[in-house]
Amino acid sequence: MCGIVGYVGKRPAQSILLDGLKKLEYRGYDSAGIVVCDKGQLHLEKTLGKIENLERAIKNKNWQSTLGMAHTRWATHGKPSDRNAHPHTDCKGELVIVHNGIIENYQKLKQALQKKGHQFKSETDSEVIAHLIEENYRGDLGAAVRQSLSRLEGTYGIAVIHVKHPDVLIAARKGSPVVIGLKENEHFVASDVTPLVSHTKDVIYLEDGEIAEITPSSYHISTINNEKREPAINHVEWEIAEAEKQGYDHYMLKEIFEEPDAARNAMLGRVIPEEGLAHLGGLNMNDDEMREVKRIVIVACGSALYAARAGEYMIEKYADIPVEVEYASEFRYRDPVIDQGTLVFAISQSGETADTLAAMKEAKRKGARVLGIVNVVGSTIARESDGGTYIHAGPEIGVASTKAFTGQLTILAILALQFGRLKNMPFSTGQKLVKELKTIPQKIESILEQDKAIKQLAESYAQYKNFFFLGRGANYPIALEGALKLKEVSYVHAEAYPMAELKHGPIALIDRNFPSFVIVPKDSYYEKNISNVQEIKARDGRMIAVATKGDSNISNLVDEVIYVPKTLDLLIPLLTVVPLHLFAYHLAVALKRDVDKPRNLAKSVTVE
Ligand code: F6R
Repeated sequence: MCGIVGYVGKRPAQSILLDGLKKLEYRGYDSAGIVVCDKGQLHLEKTLGKIENLERAIKNKNWQSTLGMAHTRWATHGKPSDRNAHPHTDCKGELVIVHNGIIENYQKLKQALQKKGHQFKSETDSEVIAHLIEENYRGDLGAAVRQSLSRLEGTYGIAVIHVKHPDVLIAARKGSPVVIGLKENEHFVASDVTPLVSHTKDVIYLEDGEIAEITPSSYHISTINNEKREPAINHVEWEIAEAEKQGYDHYMLKEIFEEPDAARNAMLGRVIPEEGLAHLGGLNMNDDEMREVKRIVIVACGSALYAARAGEYMIEKYADIPVEVEYASEFRYRDPVIDQGTLVFAISQSGETADTLAAMKEAKRKGARVLGIVNVVGSTIARESDGGTYIHAGPEIGVASTKAFTGQLTILAILALQFGRLKNMPFSTGQKLVKELKTIPQKIESILEQDKAIKQLAESYAQYKNFFFLGRGANYPIALEGALKLKEVSYVHAEAYPMAELKHGPIALIDRNFPSFVIVPKDSYYEKNISNVQEIKARDGRMIAVATKGDSNISNLVDEVIYVPKTLDLLIPLLTVVPLHLFAYHLAVALKRDVDKPRNLAKSVTVE
């Protein structure tokens, strides 16, 4: 969703900010804006649509100012437009803000400020912040920001500039991430580390309720009540090249090709083949505490939720612990039962998903220990959980989650092993599982070798308007993931069902123009799945099967087959998902969709 980048230093800010905005594009946005402060004057430009529009609008400006900030907006209050784009100014045009998040009490504040004569120019909730700071400003910008923030309800990550403070940038956070980048004689502000890593690896993650006042040579972090803070400086491990396309046409394709590494990195140092064991260090639980877990609840959204659902099968089977997977967005509304033996996991690529965060807070409120399974290091979920594990998939830039999904599945398999071995799982099963897990990255690589064939297949199916995705057991969540991926990047309608559910209604839709993806590996459900495939065939349904290498029978029943290598039943999802990711990608490209930034979507969904 919205992105912020700010700079104060010795170099002209304009190009640093534009470059930063481009790095934030992946978050999803509908308009963009930039402001620099020069010799007591603000220079501001805002445009609807892509950052190129903004770039074109300021091409000849050549501002030399060394203080500025920029923003990408994803509309919540007020439609996407130049006027509603950030930055927003006060009445005098002296003060300017950018804001991520939602100000819930903005209408009340706006009315009060309008009564005092403030003129609003946009329909946004954010603009109220600029006017509130203007109202409280008496020469001390920090004090005015503090006073104003104490009146806000909702969430914010903000940055503020005032013409009377030409080398000061103020940033603050409550519920929406803000990172400060540190470098000699220059400092940065951003909503995540991606625009920072090409300048510096040393960052401070602001905590909720903290304010940073930064100049080219200093930074001062304090609370909203003006208590000084000594923040930890973190070193970002990501390399800038990891966040670049490296010759691929799209980030999504690059990230699908990184799925073998995602599985590898998630396992690194965490499985012990000779002992058939796994150990996720960051869980902050000793073996006795883990043995006492009687029930696991997993909260997540979107793809992360589907990974959790596949993990549910793994944990229940290997660790014998009942698992419930809950839509994070619904968790709070059903008064969930959390008792002593319940352990909660929150799974999130970004670590910033507002619904997941809210579910996590609800679980904590009820006394649960909440562990995070997160990709983005230093993200809110990672910091606010009681422990957890990083998946180490590296930056995921494409809006559609792919390699993070594989990383999440791998961690869930490792968790199943770790819990299982602490309970009843025999040594031999543990060893077999570790041995097989270790082969997964290579097996994914062998699936990726079929990329060309899958591309051709996707192109030949690009004219269809509807698809079913069908799977059984742990492959039902994979069907859900396949359908979600196709919908979000190609805008083609797709629905997923458990294989056997089709005959309970949806089969009425089957004809030659309604193809089905059937996930039918040679697992313990194979025969049952084949009966369902026969039912579709009997109704002249068109089918693409994802099947196990060597299964020659299947090609007699379906129109197309994509083969995946053989593995243990509960690890099959790590393989079957890969062709579905590739199919969605290639079909979207064939339809000329904006694959990395699908319409209406945002990478990090920071509103509930
Ligand atoms: C699907 C997708 C979304 C996310 C969901 C959760 O491709 O990207 O469904 O999976 O918004 O996001 P995170 O994992 O960042 O919490």
